[in-house]
Amino acid sequence: PGLDILAKRAGLLYFGTAIDNVVLNNSAYISIAHNSSEFGQVTPSNGQKWMYIEPSRNNFSYSMADAIVKPAIRARQMRRCHTFVWHNQLPAWLEGGNWTKAELTGVLENHIRNEARYFGNGCYAWDVVNEAFEDDGSFRDSIWLRVLGKEYIELAFRFARKYVGRRVRLYYNDYGIERVNVKSKVVAAMVKDFIDRDIPIDGIGLQAHFTVGRAPTYDDVKAALNLFIPLGVETALTELDVRIQLPDSLEKQALQAQVYANSTKACMDVGDCVGVTVWDFWDPVSWVPETFPGYGNACLFDDGLKRKQAYYAVSDVL
Ligand code: XIL
Repeated sequence: PGLDILAKRAGLLYFGTAIDNVVLNNSAYISIAHNSSEFGQVTPSNGQKWMYIEPSRNNFSYSMADAIVKPAIRARQMRRCHTFVWHNQLPAWLEGGNWTKAELTGVLENHIRNEARYFGNGCYAWDVVNEAFEDDGSFRDSIWLRVLGKEYIELAFRFARKYVGRRVRLYYNDYGIERVNVKSKVVAAMVKDFIDRDIPIDGIGLQAHFTVGRAPTYDDVKAALNLFIPLGVETALTELDVRIQLPDSLEKQALQAQVYANSTKACMDVGDCVGVTVWDFWDPVSWVPETFPGYGNACLFDDGLKRKQAYYAVSDVL
């Protein structure tokens, strides 16, 4: 059976994958990507980011996301929608604008209102805000922080709650929070503060972009998940991948397989970690080689679309 079938049997809601638009013409890839026994959930890698959704002001374009979302709906795959507010992949009109607080608040609300009305109720979850903190726990610099102050985060969650359906989970999503450290504690403090002040938040996404040799252990990931769950939010591993410093070797692939399995198991073993999403399943389309030169082979399937040790390790642990 595929990974999603096993994941559901193990009590998770889904095992999913990100899909990018660059591979839509590869039918061998697509037949795996939209095979709902393998992947019960899909996240568009890029199509729901601001620069593609609202390339010029108040001009909305959903075709790139739809190329992934529509086949996912037909295949009855759940969707995680990604992402309303981020510092990256913003259009020039937005990032280069000289905004007042009132104007930028209007731009934010208009964006969330439109995109939420288009996709909103069809998403299991929305990553409302992505990567708002630095590793030292300080607020990451962005147009949002500079113009709106740190309140932009709660503003985005309030707008999201206003415009997406009641049942859609609203997530804060970040990397580097997969163990107990300064950053994950700051995120947990934000969750607590939001709950105390009735600001809507339903989940924390731990991206889980890991590196062989430096990845958190099973205990690390479990402890991180347990920082959030007692606060009353659910969690998920939202972008799992495990990069290898090249050249690759069978030894490194065995270590990679362990990291995949340990992370998946940590999610299975805590209450309210709802699912695991890999940030693509195919090595050649992973974001890793271009983002981290010298690293690669981060996924479950190799260049020839053959299942790797990592795939079988996940399948065994589920
Ligand atoms: C990445 C995509 O995979 C790339 O194709 C794109 O060029 C940059 O963004 N954290 C996130 C994702 O939340 O949106 C990022 O996706 C990877 C890191």
